[in-house]
Amino acid sequence: MHCVGLYCFLNILRTTHFSLESLRSHNSEMVGAMDMAPLLLLVCLLDFPVQGSCSSVQKKVACEVKCLTADCSHLNLKAVPSDLPTNITRLDVSHNRLIALPGASLTLYPRLLSLDASFNSITRLEANLCLALPLLWALDVQHNEVHLLTEKDLLDCSNLTHLNLSSNRLKLQGETFRPLQRLTVLDVSANGLTSAQLGSSPQLLSLKTLCLSGNAIKTIKSKDLSYLSNSSLHTLKLSSLPLKTVEAGCFQPIRGLHTLVMDGSKLSIQLIAKLSQELSGTGIRSLSLRNAKLVTLTNATFTGLQNTNLTSLDLSGNGLVSMYGSPFQWFGTLETLSLVENNLKHLTRGTFAGLGNLRVMNLTRALVKTRHTSYPIIDDFSFEPLAGLETLLMDRTAFVGVTANLFSGLTSLRHLSLSWSKAGLQAVSIATFASLSRSPLCTLDLTGTDISRLDPGAFSSLGNLTTLLLGYNFITQSLTGDEFRGLASVEEINMYHNRKIVLTPTSFALVPTLRTLMLGLSLAQNQDLDPSPFKPLRNLSTLDLSNNNIANVQEGLLDGLEGLRVLRLQHNNLQRVWKNANPGGPVLFLNGLRNLETLDLDSNGMDEIPAEGLRGLSQLRELGLAGNVLDHLRDSIFNDLASLRVLRLQKNLLTSVPRAVFGSALRNLSVLHMERNPFDCTCDSILWFMEWLNATNTSVPLLDSEYVCNTPPAYFNQSISRFQPLACMDMTPFHALYVLSCSLVLIIVTTALLFRFQGWRIQFYWSVLVNRTLGFAEPDLGQARFEYDAYLIYAAGDGKWVERHLLPLEEDRGYTFCTEDRDFVPGNTRLESIVETMRSSRKIVFIVTEKLMRDPWCRRYQVHQAMHQVIEESRDSVVLVLLEDVPDHRLARALLIRKGMLKSRCVLHWPPQKERIPTFRHQLQVALGSSNTVP
Ligand SMILES: *[C@@H]1O[C@H](CO)[C@@H](O)[C@H](O)[C@H]1NC(C)=O
Ligand SMILES: *[C@@H]1O[C@H](CO)[C@@H](O)[C@H](O)[C@H]1NC(C)=O
Ligand SMILES: *[C@@H]1O[C@H](CO)[C@@H](O)[C@H](O)[C@H]1NC(C)=O
Ligand SMILES: *[C@@H]1O[C@H](CO)[C@@H](O)[C@H](O)[C@H]1NC(C)=O
Ligand SMILES: *[C@@H]1O[C@H](CO)[C@@H](O)[C@H](O)[C@H]1NC(C)=O
Ligand SMILES: *[C@@H]1O[C@H](CO)[C@@H](O)[C@H](O)[C@H]1NC(C)=O
Repeated sequence: MHCVGLYCFLNILRTTHFSLESLRSHNSEMVGAMDMAPLLLLVCLLDFPVQGSCSSVQKKVACEVKCLTADCSHLNLKAVPSDLPTNITRLDVSHNRLIALPGASLTLYPRLLSLDASFNSITRLEANLCLALPLLWALDVQHNEVHLLTEKDLLDCSNLTHLNLSSNRLKLQGETFRPLQRLTVLDVSANGLTSAQLGSSPQLLSLKTLCLSGNAIKTIKSKDLSYLSNSSLHTLKLSSLPLKTVEAGCFQPIRGLHTLVMDGSKLSIQLIAKLSQELSGTGIRSLSLRNAKLVTLTNATFTGLQNTNLTSLDLSGNGLVSMYGSPFQWFGTLETLSLVENNLKHLTRGTFAGLGNLRVMNLTRALVKTRHTSYPIIDDFSFEPLAGLETLLMDRTAFVGVTANLFSGLTSLRHLSLSWSKAGLQAVSIATFASLSRSPLCTLDLTGTDISRLDPGAFSSLGNLTTLLLGYNFITQSLTGDEFRGLASVEEINMYHNRKIVLTPTSFALVPTLRTLMLGLSLAQNQDLDPSPFKPLRNLSTLDLSNNNIANVQEGLLDGLEGLRVLRLQHNNLQRVWKNANPGGPVLFLNGLRNLETLDLDSNGMDEIPAEGLRGLSQLRELGLAGNVLDHLRDSIFNDLASLRVLRLQKNLLTSVPRAVFGSALRNLSVLHMERNPFDCTCDSILWFMEWLNATNTSVPLLDSEYVCNTPPAYFNQSISRFQPLACMDMTPFHALYVLSCSLVLIIVTTALLFRFQGWRIQFYWSVLVNRTLGFAEPDLGQARFEYDAYLIYAAGDGKWVERHLLPLEEDRGYTFCTEDRDFVPGNTRLESIVETMRSSRKIVFIVTEKLMRDPWCRRYQVHQAMHQVIEESRDSVVLVLLEDVPDHRLARALLIRKGMLKSRCVLHWPPQKERIPTFRHQLQVALGSSNTVP
């Protein structure tokens, strides 16, 4: 654990070239110098640029006042505003057009602690400024036009602790800074000053940091700094000076000096040697000589520093070519040495002699090869003197090769980085790092070092290694597992971006301690990962298999990886794996990954998620499904993801965002990415989503620009925010109307159909009803009134049947029938006769045959009359005798009568079989004898 943390810190260190170190010393010196209140102010001062850059995004039009701070920067002001709250403690009027800071205008703000008037055109500091601001302790007037400055001008500024006068045109007169008894930081850089002497008598007793960089100082005379003799100066910055000489004893007045920065000055080797001598006996701990055009170092260069306790030396950016002898032999206490960005050609056994206490050495780009030069050489045992070295950074270096004893003697080394180096590593064999076998190495960074092969036991001497970084190489081989033999403590192997690695079931069998395995963009295509090579990795927490075009995944691939927290599978062409149509059904390869927190399935061409695909992932916090072709998602697929915070679904084919699918996924989300989907902006599809967006605190980046409707045409290509959810709210009345009109149509249709097919029945019963209610009671005139028992209606052709089968009943049973031919009274017209006889017949019997229905006379009149009687007089007097089977609809059309209108006993069928004729007769008698009352 300790290994990993330090490694991170070093990564920062590497990129910042020790600026961290200087910052730290700077800070500690400031903390020492100030009490609590100014410290708070410092924190605030550090805020200033941040706030400035924020507010510059949206153009500011007036001062912004926040937490007793007024930010009036970048407002083209010609004078300090007078309308600010009088209790402000900090005022920023930088980047304006002020030409003065008159005390009169500042008396309004007597509580000011800090005033930033940088980047204006102020030509002088007025005496009454500090009088108006008695509490002021930080004054920044850098980048102005201040020229003459006298003691009188600062007379009342004794409370100032920070004064920045850099980039002005200072001309100091007399003991300008003598009144500043409490000043801790003074910056007079870039003022064209020709001397470091800012006063003649001892003053600035509290000064800790003095910056004289960027002036025209060519010489530091022996008495130049004597005005600081009683101060407690820690840090002196003398960067970018045209320095030629330093006189003997010049640093003697500031023997407490801790940090000396002389970056960016061209320092001859003689000057460095002289400087070293002058620093002898001082408290110097940190010396920065960056970009000082130091091309050579010799035994003599730093001799003078042997009587110091220097702990940090920065020689980066010097174009240093040669180091003769042992230039660092005087630095017994040195802990960090930076040689970043130099041009060293040869390191020998003697080069680092004397650096026994060195803990960190940064050689990043310290040895380089150009087109015209040969590879630099590092002799065997070059690092042997560095017995205390813990961190060796050799990133982006070039040297002949890792020789047998290159790293011998580094008995404390814990971190070694060779990333992006040209070190002739192509094949790493058991011998390559054998010289590290006595080092407790934790981290080995071989990223981008042109490795193409790992031989068996390549790292077997590194039993304490926890982190092995092999990314961006050209490893092309089948991993049998023997390559990692001996890595008994390894926790991370990174092989991201290699050529064509083939995994076998034993690839990781010897490294069961592995927690992080990065194999993105490195596997050969179409591998058979069954049985799974990851099975031995019981402790695995992070697995990256991204960008491998795996396409084919078995259900058991991740079996047993219960501790897995991060799984990256983006860009793997997995579209078939989750398809229902997949032979054998969808492959539920995430089963059992109960602790998974991050799952990346972006860009896999997936178009469906099976119902059980994401089951049980209750710890999942981040899910990436962007760049697939998902359209319709099943309900409830996200229901188990109770911990989800980040969901990425951008660039899919989603048209709708229904609650049934997304309700649980979006509940506790912090970040949602769903942009660039073809949304269907209708109430059905996105109403719920719009409501959710309106109410949520979730961050939804690009909501205004990249969430665009695809359908319906009315919203095409418009932001979904244009969709009006209110339109959906009014749906309730419309819905009712819809139901109503539907019912109406249905009723009408039903009625129409009913009338079409059953209308006669309705009409019939209606008439009966009307007649009855209007009082046409059945004329119950008794049997006596009827002259005949039945009036027979039949076609002429059926007369024979009547004669044979009905008329005999008159004799047998005593009925009297009326037939047209036989009984009409001569003299009466035929019509009259019909009416009359029907009236006086108790029943009307139709002998129904095809002939009857074709008989026009019959149809025209008799039938009408019969119906008239039935209806008008409510007499249920009709009996049908069907000699032939006649369909009801024909009956209705020809005789206006339906079987359904009659009681069933009044509809008789002439039986084809002889033996049933007696039954027929009986039925006929029943029919003729029945009551005429309509039921
Ligand atoms: C500062 O003054 C303003 C009004 O001028 C007032 O609203 C505010 O409360 C004061 N703040 C403090 C901390 O006194
Ligand atoms: C310095 O600040 C103190 C309060 O901290 C104040 O009383 C004193 O008057 C100030 N001195 C000057 C010279 O303004
Ligand atoms: C400077 O310090 C010395 C010894 O500490 C003391 O004698 C001398 O008076 C101081 N000078 C001033 C101006 O404070
Ligand atoms: C430099 O110093 C080393 C160690 O003290 C010594 O062996 C070597 O001879 C010296 N080289 C020169 C050129 O003085
Ligand atoms: C590896 O670490 C163990 C304890 O963690 C230690 O005893 C051992 O000496 C180390 N190996 C080397 C080569 O330093
Ligand atoms: C958004 O929410 C507010 C308050 O909750 C509500 O007044 C407003 O109508 C909502 N807007 C939409 C478009 O839903």
